[in-house]
Amino acid sequence: MASQANALGAPIERREGHAKVTGEALYATEYTPPGCVHAWPVTATVARGRVSSLDTAAALDLPGVLAVLTPDTAPRLAESDDPTLAVLQDFRVPHHGWPIALVVAETLEAARAAAQAVRVTYETEPHAAVLDDHLADAYRPEEANGGHPAERRQGDPEAAFAAAPVTVDVRYRVPPLHNHPMEPHGATARWHDGRLTAYDTSQGADTVRAVLAGLFKLDEDRVTVVSEHVGGGFGSKGTPRPHVVLAAMASLHTGRPVKLALARRLLPELVGHRAPTDHRLRLGAQPDGTLLSVIHEVTTHTSRVKEFVEQAAVPARVMYAGGSILTSHRVAALDVPTPSWMRAPGEAPGMYALESAVDELADALGMDPIELRIRNEPDQEPDSGRPFSSRHLVECLREGAERFGWAERDPRPGRRRSGHQLLGTGVAAATYPVLVSPSRATVTAHPDGLHVVRVNATDIGTGARTVLAQVAAQALGVGVEAVRTEIGTTGLPRAPLAGGSSGTASWGWAVHEACRSLSRQLQERTGPLPPEGLTASADTEGSADAESPYARHAFGAHFAEVAVDTDTGEVRVRRLLGVYAAGRILNARTARSQFIGGMVMGLGMALTERGSLDPASGAFLGNDLAGYHVPAHADVPAIEAHWIDEKDDHLNPMGSKGIGEIGIVGTAAAIGNAVHHATGVRHRELPLTPDRVH
Ligand code: MOS
Repeated sequence: MASQANALGAPIERREGHAKVTGEALYATEYTPPGCVHAWPVTATVARGRVSSLDTAAALDLPGVLAVLTPDTAPRLAESDDPTLAVLQDFRVPHHGWPIALVVAETLEAARAAAQAVRVTYETEPHAAVLDDHLADAYRPEEANGGHPAERRQGDPEAAFAAAPVTVDVRYRVPPLHNHPMEPHGATARWHDGRLTAYDTSQGADTVRAVLAGLFKLDEDRVTVVSEHVGGGFGSKGTPRPHVVLAAMASLHTGRPVKLALARRLLPELVGHRAPTDHRLRLGAQPDGTLLSVIHEVTTHTSRVKEFVEQAAVPARVMYAGGSILTSHRVAALDVPTPSWMRAPGEAPGMYALESAVDELADALGMDPIELRIRNEPDQEPDSGRPFSSRHLVECLREGAERFGWAERDPRPGRRRSGHQLLGTGVAAATYPVLVSPSRATVTAHPDGLHVVRVNATDIGTGARTVLAQVAAQALGVGVEAVRTEIGTTGLPRAPLAGGSSGTASWGWAVHEACRSLSRQLQERTGPLPPEGLTASADTEGSADAESPYARHAFGAHFAEVAVDTDTGEVRVRRLLGVYAAGRILNARTARSQFIGGMVMGLGMALTERGSLDPASGAFLGNDLAGYHVPAHADVPAIEAHWIDEKDDHLNPMGSKGIGEIGIVGTAAAIGNAVHHATGVRHRELPLTPDRVH
């Protein structure tokens, strides 16, 4: 019988915590097979052109250097769907930071020194790197990221806007942002008997295996990818990145195991970034706040290597009963590193802009911003007309207002002074879709009472092992201590990536089904278990969003209090509070960490984080954590994360929605709206650094 401590929802500590803090947990570049050597990439220092000469003689002369791979000498790769992985295949330079050679040496120091000794000359071509200068070059893509239509139009939004009595027509801008997980990207690769093993820091080892098998023309069963412990990814490890391909090429070329640990400063140009977005928002309303038009037009950039379109207008298809709605994306292909997923791709920048504009509309109407949102609460998903499987945004706003003390707020901006500080509060809504993918899992009941769950899930720091043990314990009706979870390597039952806030729902669904099946078998069985135990497995389809009769999204409300220094323009966040409606919460402790982590990342997006593309070189500047400022502990105030006990029968057997990304969505808008409330000034470009705010 399950004890209370095993119930889904219990705040159980993460199982690998001890191994992590004692250093026992191994990350990708901490595996050192016998004979392991080190690789260091040489990356392009121009934004566009060709390598005209690569002189490796001096590098090869240095002690301990084994090889320098160049497009002339590197292994040939098969074509793949991802051209960012076609490294060292030709001398073309598509952006600053593109790998052009790879040094392999006995030590890390030798590899690094030799990389510096490679002499490169280029034939350069004129390049374009800054979106602001190339907005007019943007084209309408077929689709935005995630397969979303690039444009959706309902009614006559322009006419509705033109006729609206109260309007807001504003431009918001979000700079490039960098994922910068705690563990930089790295891999250890080893060839042996025509087989490839890669220890890779990845959000999904099965995808890495499939891609490596394709690139190196191997059957998948000859490739093993291990991602047992992963120090964050925030999307940047959601697809295979060049480091693991380079490590495998170097090992194939030298016949030695190879470790490639990217320096943090190389990450921004090699592993993807959140593309900058330029937003035009036109909101039109009746004097009572009823929205007549919602127009959200996004322009972003991609590289010349691959099209990636940050889907920042997509959340406006979900949020408000707008009458006429137009959402569109345009993209300019520039000579820049290829953007990719970063926590809540689309929703994070899109909801910054939309929720800031909604606050401006509330101001223009002289209406409370919470009341304005409630006035426009839709009874079905505006874009699709489907009913919501559950939607408790209004409850989140009301509970947040109560907990935050919103009722005492004087709505007038620029009125609250404390010494040389101006104080203000702000609110914004949050949303994130419910995604789920097919997964497989097995569970084995052993005669000694242990149950072993196997699924190639990835724990990127979220507590996946722990939550899956809870899901299994609940489904089996046993104590959580009677369940062991094996995750993090190919060879385990195939499973989707830890991304799109979908991991727990996808893996958990398969784990739940396997455990229910095992329970039934155990009930029908008489006599002792065989020595090898009894195993049940499950394959779950998930359910694609387009096939569901329901629109499924998590919602939330973010509240912020800020103090703005009137001398320096420095913004300090004093309080952050979030209330979420995200289905059933499966582990109160690890869920709280996810929500709070997202809010801290939103704080960084609001105040400190700015990727800067240098127009002259096409390089990202300030690429390490000294130049790219993520919040430090002293920047992070008391943060509260609460949730509504939401029941939703249209999700998965656990009743959970995703929680990994919604915490960042809307946090920057809540902070920006609070800065306006403090100062009376609207800033429409992130981050809100002192030079802009003073
Ligand atoms: Mo997340 S950006 O879907 O890994």
